Amino acid sequence: MKGQGSANGSDGSGGYDLVVVANRLPVDFSVGADGEVDWQRSPGGLVSALEPVMQGNDGAWVGWSGAPDLAHEPFEADGMMLVPVTLSASEIRKYYEGFSNDTLWPLYHDVIAPPTYHRQWWEAYRRVNQRFAEAAASQAARGGVVWVHDYQLQLVPKILRDLRPDLRIGFFDHIPFPPVELFQQLPWRRSILEGLLGADLVGFQRGGDASNFVRAVRRLTDHPTRGSVVSMDSDDGSPGRRVRAAAFPISIDTAKFDELARSPEVQARAKEVRADLGDPDVVMLGVDRLDYTKGIRHRIKAYGEILQDGRIEAANTTLVQVASPSRENVGAYQELREHVESLVGRLNGEFGEIGHSAIHYLHHSYPPEEMAALYLAADVMLVTSLRDGMNLVAKEYIAARSDLGGVLVLSEFTGAADELAPGPLLVNPHDIDGMKDIIVTAAHMDPKEKRRRMRRLRRKVMGDDVAKWSKSFLGVLTAMPTRDTHV
Ligand code: G6P
Repeated sequence: MKGQGSANGSDGSGGYDLVVVANRLPVDFSVGADGEVDWQRSPGGLVSALEPVMQGNDGAWVGWSGAPDLAHEPFEADGMMLVPVTLSASEIRKYYEGFSNDTLWPLYHDVIAPPTYHRQWWEAYRRVNQRFAEAAASQAARGGVVWVHDYQLQLVPKILRDLRPDLRIGFFDHIPFPPVELFQQLPWRRSILEGLLGADLVGFQRGGDASNFVRAVRRLTDHPTRGSVVSMDSDDGSPGRRVRAAAFPISIDTAKFDELARSPEVQARAKEVRADLGDPDVVMLGVDRLDYTKGIRHRIKAYGEILQDGRIEAANTTLVQVASPSRENVGAYQELREHVESLVGRLNGEFGEIGHSAIHYLHHSYPPEEMAALYLAADVMLVTSLRDGMNLVAKEYIAARSDLGGVLVLSEFTGAADELAPGPLLVNPHDIDGMKDIIVTAAHMDPKEKRRRMRRLRRKVMGDDVAKWSKSFLGVLTAMPTRDTHV
């Protein structure tokens, strides 16, 4: 019965050896005027990481279609079985926009925006996590591996373990895990920790995130911890499972991105972009989802002051800011958009001229070819997040620059900074004066120093691609003793 979608026995007879559970499926759905549902592959980092392992392992992917009330049978795409989970409009409001993106997201990103705590949102989060866990339970083969992803699904490991104790369960948190002093604000903190502890292996971007998690377990639950291992002993004291927390810094498909950026089409497009910008001396670039964690306002403020001070000549400099639309129904994102757009307008009014803009602000998403061309066209890449789990844009920029040109300015508050220092110019985005100095240094850096830094960055990034990341996580997960061995 392998590869037969949801038609498994409830004990996992038949079913898939590897089941990935993530909030989103790696496809975009659209409903035509005739009501027909159509879908296209959405190129995401996670799918490029997991596709080869899924195809080699008889894999299924459980996730949401991205649209309300859309029910669809499991279907095959590129050698993977995709299993849609249906969410109602009210669940999207409460589970996705509410609890995931207006409670957990700000709380886990250092409360840059105030988290909102609503009991109704929590109820929806629980209900939806239950649905994802049930879908995964019905897809996984006996003794199979289930890999759950990200903050939207933190209760899934425990629910799934109760349903299917035969499975090996991994969880990977793509965003930061906050210090316990912040995490403990969450009224449902204990349930979240117990949810995650349903996994055998809990992976994080940085060692610091793993220690924050273990510290929270120590402080807020009764489970004993030793180093990075949590003991799930039973109430009578008999030894139970061990849960391990560890760092697995994620990456991108570096070879593919490198190749894309070397292609003649992309090289030509990069020249065209520079020409279209009026061939300024310095092109700076920011590429982010329009999210308050990304430090876009801080970056624009610093850039505007540099132009004001005349430390870089406004007539010969341009900042291209790609800000892709994101979570547009959430209030904090709407406010951010207004704020950023008014800053951009003010700066362009002040420093723009006919035929020259101080900032090119692009509220769109672009395909990888266009992104690679922008990276090649940029002398200075500005990644100034206030908090960021990893930041893959920084890694894409490095992978694109086989010419060893370009300077990466990188916030200290990204997972990437932990890995990439000392190659990038590190900044504290809260320190506007400090950031201005670094941006000016980057804009004036001599080509020899640029090459030295970029060579060092590429040595680090090119060897650590996303296939290695998933292989290493799954390698550790499958090497762990199963429950039966140590109960
Ligand atoms: C971050 C999260 C992902 C999420 C992505 C886009 O990278 O870690 O889980 O999918 O943002 O956000 P969205 O809300 O559109 O899925």
